[in-house]
Amino acid sequence: ADTLGAQAALSGRYFGTAVAAGRLGDSTYAGIVDREFSSVTAENEMKWDTVEPSRGSFNFGPGDQIANRALGRGQQVRGHTLVWHSQLPGWVGSIRDANTLRSVMNNHITTVMNHYRGKIHSWDVVNEAFADGGSGQLRSSVFRDVLGDGFLEEAFRTARQADPNAKLCYNDYNIENWTDAKTQGVYRMVRDFKARGVPIDCVGLQAHFGAGGPPANFQTTVSSFAALGVDVQITELDIAQASQTAYANAVRACMNVARCTGITVWGVRDSDSWRTGQNPLLFDNAGNKKPAYHSVMSVL
Ligand code: XIL
Repeated sequence: ADTLGAQAALSGRYFGTAVAAGRLGDSTYAGIVDREFSSVTAENEMKWDTVEPSRGSFNFGPGDQIANRALGRGQQVRGHTLVWHSQLPGWVGSIRDANTLRSVMNNHITTVMNHYRGKIHSWDVVNEAFADGGSGQLRSSVFRDVLGDGFLEEAFRTARQADPNAKLCYNDYNIENWTDAKTQGVYRMVRDFKARGVPIDCVGLQAHFGAGGPPANFQTTVSSFAALGVDVQITELDIAQASQTAYANAVRACMNVARCTGITVWGVRDSDSWRTGQNPLLFDNAGNKKPAYHSVMSVL
């Protein structure tokens, strides 16, 4: 096949990109999105600060623009993200009453998932809840601090009710190295959810890598999560300097695990990346395929 999406489809996987609504008027950008990718994730447009900037007042315009454009072209849409401590409006962060915050969180999940019901194949229900470093515990956030660790379970149960057909994912960064305490903390949570029947279908590994690419044990991480009975998705892949070897290693780890169902790169051209100056993507500033593009194609 001659595009990332078509090549990934040969093994039943998708190959996606983050899309920014404000760039879709750029015909080079839109042309690559439409030609190469079989899935899209809104880079910012489905985050809480955009979707519910004040309590009970929902703004779906920018997210709809991305989702409807993609669906009209036969692309899948990943939902990103429902519960996250970042890009969270101040009115949520300042809630101190647990009953109020529980109701606000559940209303947000339910309203957003209902709006997109039938349109989104996987939702990042909770994003980045675990702490960096050696604790293996949840990070401090308004959700953890006011509701306790149980906010994750509550969020996933609410999400299942809102859209029973969407795959429910836990998504995080720095959980690619199998021996890291953060990876092990997420692993224990997923194992506990599966043991107790808390709904979870997928783990998203963001995969924002430095120039060396994934750790040598990355495939062990992918296969270990998959062995718990969840899908694994690489959700935000980018690699500083985009070496061919690093990209090939990242993609190969997914290809080698049956339940690794798709890969999303976090932007189109280097100039579109949130990692300014790191040239971490598959297309150069002019929209040309970089060497890493061809190495990805050879592994897919
Ligand atoms: C980033 C976007 O790419 C930027 O445009 C925005 O300013 C900040 O967020 N983890 C995530 C993504 O889950 O939502 C983040 O996206 C990158 C890190």
